Amino acid sequence: MDPYRLPHSVLPVRYGLRLEPDLARATFTGEVRIAVEVREPVSEIVLNAAELRISEASIQNAKGVSHPANVELEVSTERARLRFPGSLAPGTWELRVAFTGILNDKLRGFYRSTYKDARGVTQTLAATQFEATDARRAFPCWDEPIFKAVFSTTLAIDPALTAVSNTAVLSEEIRDGRKLIRFADTIRMSTYLVAFVVGNLEATDPVMVGRTPLRVWSVPGKRHLAAFAQQAAAFSLRFFEQYYGLPYPGDKLDLLAIPDFASGAMENLGAITFRENALLVDEKAATHGELERVADVVAHENAHMWFGDLVTMSWWNGLWLNEAFATFMEMLAVDAWKPEWQRWITFGVSRAAALAVDGLHSTRPIEYPVRAPRDADAMFDVLTYEKGASVLRMLEQHLGPEVFRDGVRQYLRRHAHGNADTGDLWTALGQAAKQSVPALMDGWIFHPGYPLITARLDRNRLVLRQERFTSLKEPPGGAATDGPARTSEATPPLRQWRMPVQLRIVAKGKPVTRRLLFTDAEQTITVPKGFEHVVVNAGGHGFYRVRYEPALRERLLRLIPDGLPAIERFNLLNDAWATTVAGLMRLPEYLDLTARFRSDPDRNVWSVLFDSFQALNRIIDPAGRPGLEALVRDRLSAAVSRLGWTPRPDESELTRQLRGDLLRAFGTTGNDPRTQARAAELYANSVKSPSRGTDGREANQREANMIDPNVVSAVIAILAHAGDRVRYTEFLERFRSAPTPQEERRYLYALAGFQDGALVEETLSRTINGEIRTQDSPFVVAALLTSVHGREQAWNFVKTHWDTLDRLFPKNGVRRMLHGIAGLATPELEQDVKQFIAMRKIHLGGKTLEQYLEQLHIAVAFRTREGPALRAYLKRAGAPAGRRLKNKQGVRHEER
Ligand code: BES
Ligand code: ZN
Repeated sequence: MDPYRLPHSVLPVRYGLRLEPDLARATFTGEVRIAVEVREPVSEIVLNAAELRISEASIQNAKGVSHPANVELEVSTERARLRFPGSLAPGTWELRVAFTGILNDKLRGFYRSTYKDARGVTQTLAATQFEATDARRAFPCWDEPIFKAVFSTTLAIDPALTAVSNTAVLSEEIRDGRKLIRFADTIRMSTYLVAFVVGNLEATDPVMVGRTPLRVWSVPGKRHLAAFAQQAAAFSLRFFEQYYGLPYPGDKLDLLAIPDFASGAMENLGAITFRENALLVDEKAATHGELERVADVVAHENAHMWFGDLVTMSWWNGLWLNEAFATFMEMLAVDAWKPEWQRWITFGVSRAAALAVDGLHSTRPIEYPVRAPRDADAMFDVLTYEKGASVLRMLEQHLGPEVFRDGVRQYLRRHAHGNADTGDLWTALGQAAKQSVPALMDGWIFHPGYPLITARLDRNRLVLRQERFTSLKEPPGGAATDGPARTSEATPPLRQWRMPVQLRIVAKGKPVTRRLLFTDAEQTITVPKGFEHVVVNAGGHGFYRVRYEPALRERLLRLIPDGLPAIERFNLLNDAWATTVAGLMRLPEYLDLTARFRSDPDRNVWSVLFDSFQALNRIIDPAGRPGLEALVRDRLSAAVSRLGWTPRPDESELTRQLRGDLLRAFGTTGNDPRTQARAAELYANSVKSPSRGTDGREANQREANMIDPNVVSAVIAILAHAGDRVRYTEFLERFRSAPTPQEERRYLYALAGFQDGALVEETLSRTINGEIRTQDSPFVVAALLTSVHGREQAWNFVKTHWDTLDRLFPKNGVRRMLHGIAGLATPELEQDVKQFIAMRKIHLGGKTLEQYLEQLHIAVAFRTREGPALRAYLKRAGAPAGRRLKNKQGVRHEER
């Protein structure tokens, strides 16, 4: 018997839930009446409960005969065992449980969130976050996704407050000094989707999407930041009703911004909760990336209303059915809403992140065994989301979008209001496609890793070979620290995948696209006369890497930028960088390659360059850093000059974003003094310009001084990078008084960008002294762990304050923070990290910690292998920079 799974002898059918939160005391009392179906004679009922005090429990039959229960709480398995004097006969019963609990500060279960109101007074609200296994902290329940039931909720609250739950309000009345709000019945759904929020909340007017009223909620004073999300939500809701061919399954849709929120957002049916910066935004002042983020998250959660809420995975091993699908649908919807954003090209960046983790020996299959709650939490990773969405995209492109959509429709219709497994999806897609899907897909879902295709030309034959790609040849030494070895439970890596491969062969100037199903270790294709070049993974949808022999690669490089689509340039460069890190290509060759992308117009392509330069920055000794900065400037300067600081009127939003990205990299990684000076000037002007004022002249002046938001965001990062204490104090104040969540976030991360040791220390201490929200602190520490200037201090801070961090952070916080250890890329730090983790017996669930350590090891191995070559390369390339530096204090280092 698995201690984490409940027996199926008794099933919940309907919950009548009454909760009375006391925000001031941070407690709640509750009563739940659960109509259950007893399926076989039992003398006990086992259900989930955690951190609850159960004061009374009994069960009644239809005739009103009541049996009291003896209650025993099992802390380690988070269960309550209710024992009855005799055995309960099969049939319908009503279980009644009275309980009390606490509104915790860990952003899970029923929890407390605080904010400062307009007068600076701290206010409290109560919110819920139940996924994956925290409904049991709010009320006793069958807290597994398979146990779907109807929920009928009543909240008894302070009459001055408002409450929102999954469904429409049925009635409101004042009784005994409390406001009783009764909500309509939900559809049959899983416990993790139940939600209620109580506080002083403000809503927009509803917009109607068909028959669904759609509103955005926030704490007072932020309603003016809701318009963009409301538009995104209205569009995507309509889009999904059409795509899925099924109406929205709720009776209303509320989107709520919660000041303290552990993840980005949560798809509670009808009451989607968000962290503020994923929902509230000032469209005029936001960067492209910030707007894209809001549109993404909103579309993603809306997609879940069907995929996840209406049809739910049977158990957490199938989480990808929820999350990969929602991610895939998010792309479709955002792409349909704003085609000019080219969302699928940017998705290449997400695919690349998944390829990076899935290239580890410690990766896992998308579908993977889950037992304990901690393992369920560890499933919310780049493999579930981004690899999952990538293989869905690959399948969609292979079957054809219409066929794929028809399969999805059948799947949803067939399993509506119920649960489903991966096999059910394959069946529906297979029927729509009239072919067997498992044969094609199981290798991608149930096995870890992915292939590398090596392409070479042998006279008139193109030879393709496939093998598994890993960043390290052998698994890193040392025992796995993250729990017992579990590989026996999961399927082993494949040697060969069945993969749909799309080729574009150009001969005599004519392109021909060929689609093949690559199943063997090697495959040969005869190329036509007059062959010029071939693109493997044409269109870029495949979840694999490609390595071209030098001659084939050279032919492609001659085409960039204009002769090759952006996604293909992205993959070409990204695969080159990955093979360099893996030791399949030498670093100097990669660095030469980067010089060929100087005029690239695509921000995603540039992101590969920025990321690789930052990775090099983490493995270079301080003495070599000025040389690397010079190299960065060399690669960027043409593009930086071309774009300048101000947008042209006809420019696309993507170009504006690229300008910001380039300036930021030029002024930080490139450490360019002129860029830093110009940033300071612009910043000073923009601060001087009046932010209020009614007369037209002032408004015009303000307009003239308005810097493009993408540039503003870059300017802040640049000024932090080059900033002193005066600047720090200024930014700290800006962080505290920021008028939008996005601005707050920019200044928050800027606080981690200052290089001075004392300032690093201050920022670190703010992550635990209450100044930075615990929802954000883990990211700030992680940012410092990955930064060259802050990593040693940050690591010391983590070691010194481990217990505090562990106690304060929300449950995903430690995992998020430790993500940063991959940046501690020196052999000494790596040893220290390993020791500390072993000594503290740290577990993060699933394979998370093993993956972080392997990523760290890859960086250290790369340093050892390519460090000398990097130094030599920079000496050769960076002579002018070296000369310039001799005038400054850097001369000592430079000479060593
Ligand atoms: N279901 C998740 C929220 C969640 C994440 C709950 C982890 C429990 C643990 C939600 O649908 C989600 O995926 N949110 C993302 C944002 C999304 C746009 C990728 C998140 O929170 O990061
Ligand atoms: Zn999701």
